[in-house]
Amino acid sequence: MAILVTGGAGFIGSHTIVELLNSGKEVVIIDNFSNSQPEVLDNIKKITGKDFKFYELNYLDKEKLEEVFKENKIDAVMNFAGFKAVGESVQKPIEYYTNNISGALVLLDTMKKYNVKKFIFSSSATVYGDPEIIPITEQCKTGGTTNPYGTTKLFIEQILKDIYVSDNSWDICILRYFNPIGAHESGLIGEDPQGIPNNLMPYIAKVAAGKLEQLSVFGNDYPTKDGTGVRDYIHVVDLAKGHIKALEKIEKEGKGIFIYNLGTGTGYSVLDVVNSFEKSTGVKVPYKIAPRRSGDVAMCYADPSKAKEELGWVAEKTLEDMCKDSWNFIKKNN
Ligand code: UD1
Repeated sequence: MAILVTGGAGFIGSHTIVELLNSGKEVVIIDNFSNSQPEVLDNIKKITGKDFKFYELNYLDKEKLEEVFKENKIDAVMNFAGFKAVGESVQKPIEYYTNNISGALVLLDTMKKYNVKKFIFSSSATVYGDPEIIPITEQCKTGGTTNPYGTTKLFIEQILKDIYVSDNSWDICILRYFNPIGAHESGLIGEDPQGIPNNLMPYIAKVAAGKLEQLSVFGNDYPTKDGTGVRDYIHVVDLAKGHIKALEKIEKEGKGIFIYNLGTGTGYSVLDVVNSFEKSTGVKVPYKIAPRRSGDVAMCYADPSKAKEELGWVAEKTLEDMCKDSWNFIKKNN
């Protein structure tokens, strides 16, 4: 029985496949390289020494997707095929709703047809909007998303809840990621966004590599320890391992819809990240203070205790590991 991974050549998908293969799972990957490179697949093979089946297709293409279900014995599906750039989602809402929501519906409908009912979904802390309480537990209110990307995550969560109500033989796990950064320690896979990055760590890495002049720190007047925004940065390998634990849970115990925060539980400010990057890599990151970015919240970090209690998962890597590994990947790939 295989695990089907959509968007497997992307940042989080690729790291999760490494962990799946390392834990002895058979993997089938689909990707259309809309935001990734084919070399990633070779690099997954280099890291793990293991092989997998790959289909180049868009998961919206129901006919082609059905072929994958016909040709393979799929036991569970992990969906990483969503678009994820917040700013772009504001410019291209139709594309975001189509790819993320229609794509998820095509996938779920195909799963239903082939009686595959184990699903792990990549959600985001963005579903909490401006959080009511910090640290954020899974009980906190969701809603109030500020961009179409975030709204797609919220809607898909609701769709999954409705599917479970209609048929409780589904096993569904919703993982709410906080801020994934870092890269595999080999430096063979990591995050390399096209153009000017929106997220903090990719931007810092480009400044460190001399490709961008300086970082703009968006606001230093938030009610935080140094005035800059505080987030829960999590190493992508820890995050990937969380998916393996989630899969084990729905494979062994099953029957239910489960929601977990995947974060470290520690908040770091923008300046903490800059300082840690400089300390752990020895490379300077020039920065200037700029106005706040609209839609940003002051603080967002997880209470990850539910994942610890129910999945036996805790994030192990430090902010220093995250900075070192991000830089190692960028150095090797620029
Ligand atoms: C953003 C998205 C979130 C998404 C996540 C993906 C919003 C409101 N949230 O989270 O939905 O899941 O990316 O990883 O957009 N910063 C700077 N300068 C920069 C870039 C960022 O100071 O050039 C600051 C931000 O103001 C923030 C922190 O760094 O305080 C982290 O920003 P970012 O990496 O973009 O992540 P989020 O905004 O938390």
